[in-house]
Amino acid sequence: MDKLIEDIGVFQELPSESNETVRVTPNQSTGKSRKIYIESYGCQMNFSDSEIVASILQNAGFDTTSKIEEADLVFLNTCSIREKAEQTVRNRLNHINGFKKKKPEMMVGVLGCMAERLKTKLLEEEKIVDLVAGPDAYRDLPNLISQVDDGDKAVNTFLSREETYADISPVRLNSNGVTAFISIMRGCDNMCSFCVVPFTRGRERSRDPQSILAEAKDLFSRGFREVTLLGQNVDSYKWSSLENNKARLEKNRIDKVVNFSHLLDMVAQVSPELRIRFSTSHPKDITDDVLHIMAKYENICKNIHLPAQSGNSRILELMNRGYTREWYLDRVNCIRKILGEECGISSDMITGFCSETEEEHQDTLTLMDLVEYDYSYMFYYSERPGTLAAKKLPDDIPLEVKKRRLDEIIKKQSALSLKRNKPDVGKVFKVLIEGSSRKSPDYLQGRNSQNKVVIFPKENKSKGKYVHVLIESCTQGTLIGKIAE
Ligand code: SAH
Ligand code: SF4
Ligand code: F3S
Repeated sequence: MDKLIEDIGVFQELPSESNETVRVTPNQSTGKSRKIYIESYGCQMNFSDSEIVASILQNAGFDTTSKIEEADLVFLNTCSIREKAEQTVRNRLNHINGFKKKKPEMMVGVLGCMAERLKTKLLEEEKIVDLVAGPDAYRDLPNLISQVDDGDKAVNTFLSREETYADISPVRLNSNGVTAFISIMRGCDNMCSFCVVPFTRGRERSRDPQSILAEAKDLFSRGFREVTLLGQNVDSYKWSSLENNKARLEKNRIDKVVNFSHLLDMVAQVSPELRIRFSTSHPKDITDDVLHIMAKYENICKNIHLPAQSGNSRILELMNRGYTREWYLDRVNCIRKILGEECGISSDMITGFCSETEEEHQDTLTLMDLVEYDYSYMFYYSERPGTLAAKKLPDDIPLEVKKRRLDEIIKKQSALSLKRNKPDVGKVFKVLIEGSSRKSPDYLQGRNSQNKVVIFPKENKSKGKYVHVLIESCTQGTLIGKIAE
């Protein structure tokens, strides 16, 4: 029987409306479903996409594995945000080349932003790549895989204006069973001059709120207790059933415009026991309505990731960010007024952007002091081909200056993180337990509403539960305490 399956392959109907038939061949030696291993790089959005990919491929008859040695197909879901990110993937591809020499039948695919940016170049230059699929082409993966089975190289990098994978239930990979991501939109229309994302992810589009709610409810019923709503700019989330002919014909649809504050309001009501986080907020778009909804619900976590990128208005203009230093500080004041001093604020910063002077770099340091960020992700500028900055602005700050400025902001952030953690000693926080502490199995780890990591002795508690923890000490990255009940 196994022999027969090997000869004819297994034919399986594609799910949903598609009337295409895709051939899924089993592993040649075991006769079982072929196994897929997916490695993800880059932002949370990419990790979330890998879960969509896993779902599409499981529906098409493949299994997933977390061990690369077991894999028949290896996919790297890649990031292009900085040159270094792409270099990491290239190094990994070279390493995988080693495996492939021993196991030539292993298929290697590149997904995500680097696939989109480099398109067929990856097939031509990196001879070990068999398949290339951009972020909007994942439904086509079963078909692309069968093209490779037939001895062809397979590429699909079409970007869509509609695809949101709304109907796909992601398969949660490497899950702790407590926290999960939900993509609420795709793409970005902002065109920040340094950024490759609008080119790799295409136009911004929002996902049907009913499908977002259904996903949140399903996660909650399966024991998850925290969801993070993801988008490159969640504040421009907008969905209107009237713009969507298909939805208009269906019953029980919401037929008003749903913006991000409405969406938050809806998801917060799934259960008071389900925590809501979201990322990323854009300083030019975040509204007071969003802040008021955050204040209204205890289960919407009090932490806002509000990337400033720079503290200088001239640089912000060159970056095409759409706000000034003053506008940014005004938004921070509103956050403090509506949500209080305790609300966590975090940022992304870029040093050494085109033509940045020492004084302008100082403006970034003083902005950091004024806001007192809880944490920041910090980078030196990396020119990306095709972006507005690459076309118009010379990348004229020497690497050693970029790196020195980066060191300075990292030092500044370390001091601020400690400063923000110290007043928490002596306070009690509600913490959602995510699992054992990485450092010791006798300790548990979770986060408080402000997104700070909290570590405490296990006692008889387990993951997925809320506990109150009295903070006894801290480092710049962690609060350490004991259960207060
Ligand atoms: N949508 C988010 C950010 C997505 S990219 C936002 O608008 O804030 C994540 C971060 O990578 C950015 O916030 C920025 O700080 C950094 N980044 C993006 N392009 C970069 C580049 N060319 N060089 C260095 N850092 C970059
Ligand atoms: Fe890039 Fe700007 Fe869009 Fe963020 S908002 S993804 S930085 S273009
Ligand atoms: Fe990277 Fe693409 Fe995300 S470039 S940061 S994986 S959107």
